[in-house]
Amino acid sequence: MIRIVGLSGNVKAPSRTAALTSALLDEARRDLVAETRHISLVEAAPVLFRALRAEQLDDEGLEIIEAIERADALIVSSPVYRASYTGALKHLFDLVDYRALTGVPVILAATGGRALHGLMPDQQLRPLMAFFKALPLPTTVYAVESDFVDFAVANDALRERIAEAGAELRTALTKPAASLRRKLSEPTFARRTA
Ligand SMILES: Cc1cc2nc3c(=O)[nH]c(=O)nc-3n(C[C@H](O)[C@H](O)[C@H](O)COP(=O)(O)O)c2cc1C
Repeated sequence: MIRIVGLSGNVKAPSRTAALTSALLDEARRDLVAETRHISLVEAAPVLFRALRAEQLDDEGLEIIEAIERADALIVSSPVYRASYTGALKHLFDLVDYRALTGVPVILAATGGRALHGLMPDQQLRPLMAFFKALPLPTTVYAVESDFVDFAVANDALRERIAEAGAELRTALTKPAASLRRKLSEPTFARRTA
């Protein structure tokens, strides 16, 4: 079973970013036999901030981090905060094993107040994924507040962009560059026994 995990860096709810991630998850799993999970930082951050380092994760935090480390594909979305992704999202990635996302296809997405920071996914999230040797896909998705009504996607151009990104992810999952996929079978084993 293919596992697709959506990560939303929002620290409040309701959230446009979470709505965007949900829409991307729906597109990503279209026609696939896939299990999806949506992790929103508004719920996960209070758990993850109990640990300042990976070895301090409790069972609840470890379960979240392991779900990410075991994903076959990721959707990483964040509201733009101070021209970047949220600190809560960075904290999450500071707890992820640096080897665990090698070769994992990733859709990069963001929401912002204005179009000005539309390159945030490419300029901030893409380098973060490059550190992990993940495979961020070519099509990024950026939406502004006016693209949503009642915290739901309400713009046809945005819907098209979401569909494009979802199609890229499905292609990456069904025609994988298998040699690039070198995930650890038990990424947290050493941490558990250390
Ligand atoms: C602390 C803070 C910083 C922000 N910084 C920016 C910014 O630099 N650029 C921008 O376009 N929007 C900025 N915004 C607006 C949010 O990115 C925007 O409202 C976003 O859609 C909120 O997402 P959410 O509904 O998922 O929380 C900021 C909002 C907050 C609360």
